[in-house]
Amino acid sequence: MIDQGTVALVTGANRGIGRALVQALSATHVTKIYAGVRSLAAFEPIVLATNVVPIEIDVTRPEQIERLAVTAPDVTLLFNNAGVLSFGDIISASWDDIEHNLAVNYLGKLRLARAFAPVIERNGGGAIVNTLTLVALASMPELSIYNASKAAAWSMTQSLRASLLNRNVRVHGVFPGAVDTDMLKDVDIEKASPSDVALAILKGVTDDEEDIFPDAMSRSLYSAWKEDHKAVEKQFANM
Ligand SMILES: NC(=O)c1ccc[n+]([C@@H]2O[C@H](COP(=O)([O-])OP(=O)(O)OC[C@H]3O[C@@H](n4cnc5c(N)ncnc54)[C@H](OP(=O)(O)O)[C@@H]3O)[C@@H](O)[C@H]2O)c1
Repeated sequence: MIDQGTVALVTGANRGIGRALVQALSATHVTKIYAGVRSLAAFEPIVLATNVVPIEIDVTRPEQIERLAVTAPDVTLLFNNAGVLSFGDIISASWDDIEHNLAVNYLGKLRLARAFAPVIERNGGGAIVNTLTLVALASMPELSIYNASKAAAWSMTQSLRASLLNRNVRVHGVFPGAVDTDMLKDVDIEKASPSDVALAILKGVTDDEEDIFPDAMSRSLYSAWKEDHKAVEKQFANM
């Protein structure tokens, strides 16, 4: 699935897991990688990678997404990676934060998927990779609005998979545990490295895994969740 014919688009490519994905992809034989960033000025070029094309994309701006589907007509592999995390309890979190998490983590991914599914299909097929989170499986109260936006994106991932089944577009969900990026910089917990997570995501896509658990924390908690999801819900509720 990831080969010389692949043209990838990664959103949120300037830092964190997105940047690591661009780096990992640039070490493969893919034809081109569109590195989607909100500000081209903020994108530091990736050394040695000549096939990386920075492009401007804010996933909350529908007109930019529509334009991108025209200016990047060769995409075959979409990494719907961009995301935000606002902390806060479901009762007291601000409404602005609730709307913003849904706008980026759910609506943004959905807009990209709807714009690029026909592009990928026209190019002979490929995949959409939605980066979700382990806490889409069960809620941690302090991450309540983030969890909800990602759980909605998980449901959307399943819907896309069914709708695109016969259109040669595979749909993957990625459920990382804690990863060492800016997103969790103030949380003191053991974290996986973004580069290891990026490699595991590419392996999952290559191996055609629908649900990708790219680090030790996510694999172990997924096993526990399959065994007894109510126990994981209770465990997370007390964290
Ligand atoms: N870190 C973790 O522990 C963890 C765990 C599970 C899942 N994830 C998921 O992994 C993905 C990447 O997260 P990360 O850890 O790499 O976080 P990060 O370091 O905070 O990076 C977030 C990226 O998303 C971009 N972004 C935010 N809002 C955007 C918008 N409106 N339009 C376009 N891009 C936007 C950011 O761009 P700017 O630089 O312009 O803000 C940045 O490139 C997210 O979907 C996140 O939810 C992360």
